[in-house]
Order: sequence, then structure tokens, then C-alpha cells
Amino acid sequence: MLSVKNLSIAYNGVKVVHGIDFKAEKGKVTVLIGANGAGKTSIIRSIMNLIKSESDEILYDGEDIKKTKPNNMSRIGISLCPEGRQLFPDMTVLENLEMGAYARKDKAGIATDLVDILDKFPRLKDRKTQCAGTLSGGEQELLAIARALMGKPKLLILDEPSWGVAPIMVEEVMKMTRHINEEMGVTVLLVEQNANVALRYSDYAYVLDVGEIAIQGTGEALLGDRKVQEIYLGI
Ligand SMILES: Nc1ncnc2c1ncn2[C@@H]1O[C@H](COP(=O)(O)OP(=O)(O)OP(=O)(O)O)[C@@H](O)[C@H]1O
Ligand SMILES: [Mg+2]
Repeated sequence: MLSVKNLSIAYNGVKVVHGIDFKAEKGKVTVLIGANGAGKTSIIRSIMNLIKSESDEILYDGEDIKKTKPNNMSRIGISLCPEGRQLFPDMTVLENLEMGAYARKDKAGIATDLVDILDKFPRLKDRKTQCAGTLSGGEQELLAIARALMGKPKLLILDEPSWGVAPIMVEEVMKMTRHINEEMGVTVLLVEQNANVALRYSDYAYVLDVGEIAIQGTGEALLGDRKVQEIYLGI
């Protein structure tokens, strides 16, 4: 579904991502794991064309998206849950969800999806008239995911869904991500620092180490990998 080849990113001449290759296969959950400053957000922002980068190829559904404008990504089926969530804190849950459908014209479809999404996210339904800024970290992340789903994505990209979320809610957020993947058929690409959680919920994983891919394999294989255990899992 998404194929990235030889992607490099530099800020003011300083390279932070060094020619990486990775894929997010259709129907799967793929994760890029990396520590603070490993380049995760930069990689996502470059796929979305929010920053400049160099690559041999960025293909989505077989199409070159190197020149696709950020505000057209939703129209072609890519939705991003950005780092720090970027909700509208003074707007209600409902209003935030409506913002997620900004690129759509099918009013009736939007209304039906809103009902469906609220049914899928009972925590949000209970709080639909509450301002987003008053939700807990976990609830805010669920809202950011639900808002992204209002764009009807085929590919959902999540930038550190565990950020600022209590551990028990991290499991709920990841279970919801898995559910969206399995039940709604949405392909998922996520980046995470929390290797333990991310590996348990992903099909395939890439480990980033200062802008390079150091290890890759199935989530299961990496959970059992000694190097990954030492560096990321504290075992
Ligand atoms: N706008 C920018 N200008 C200059 N340097 C930047 C900019 N954005 C990021 N960097 C640098 O690029 C490197 C990678 O940053 P990036 O935010 O992509 O990492 P990350 O893996 O998302 O980190 P985190 O886990 O903290 O979110 C860091 O060294 C960072 O300081
Ligand atoms: Mg980041």
C-alpha cells in the first residue's frame, strides 16, 4: 500500500534520516520504532509532504505521491493522527469529528459515519458535547483517531499514539487501532517509542536507530530479539 525507497531528510544541511526503505503492506499494521529524536515524525511529515525530503520512491497504492499536496492526502485516502494530536481544544468532541471530514462533500455519508464512529467509540459518544481540551490524554488520542477516520482513510498514519496517555489507556488505544485495522480494513502505519506495546499490536516492525533502519521483522520476532530486548524493552 505504501512503499518508501531511499528516503533521506536533512534540516539546515544536517542529515537526520539516512536513506531508509520501508513498506506498509495493505491490510496490516506496520510500526517504525525509534527513540527520542530518531526521526520518526520527520519521516511521517515527509510522506505527507509537510517537509522537504529526498527519495527514490514514495508509492501509495501504486501511485507516486512525492508531489501530492498535504491537503490532498485525505482525498486519496491517507489520514494522519499527528504528533501531540493537534485537536481543537475549545471545540466539542462532535465539532472535532466534523473537522475530520473537511475534504468530503457527501453530506449524507458524513452524517452516517458520524453516527457509526460514535457507536464505535462509546467513550467519545458519552462526551460528545464536551470540549476536546477537557478530555484525558487517552480520550484525546481516541478522538484524534476517530477524527482521522472521518476522512474515510484507506491508510491511517499514527504518530506516537501512546504519547501522554496513561498505560492502561495505551492498551485501549492500541486495541482500537487493531480493531480499525481488522474490522474496518484500514491499513495502519504507526511510529512509536513504546516498543513493548507497539510490537505486541503490529504485524511488521522496523527499528530506527539514529535515522537508519537497524532491525526489521514481524512484531513477534522482534519481541523475542535479544538486541531489541536490551535496547528497547529493558530486559
Ligand atoms: N524543524 C526542524 N529543524 C531542525 N531540526 C529538526 C526539525 N525537526 C526535527 N529536527 C531534528 O531532527 C531529528 C529528528 O526529529 P524527529 O522529530 O523527526 O524525531 P522523533 O523520532 O519524532 O522524536 P520524538 O520521539 O521526540 O517525537 C532531531 O534531531 C530533531 O532535533
Ligand atoms: Mg516525533
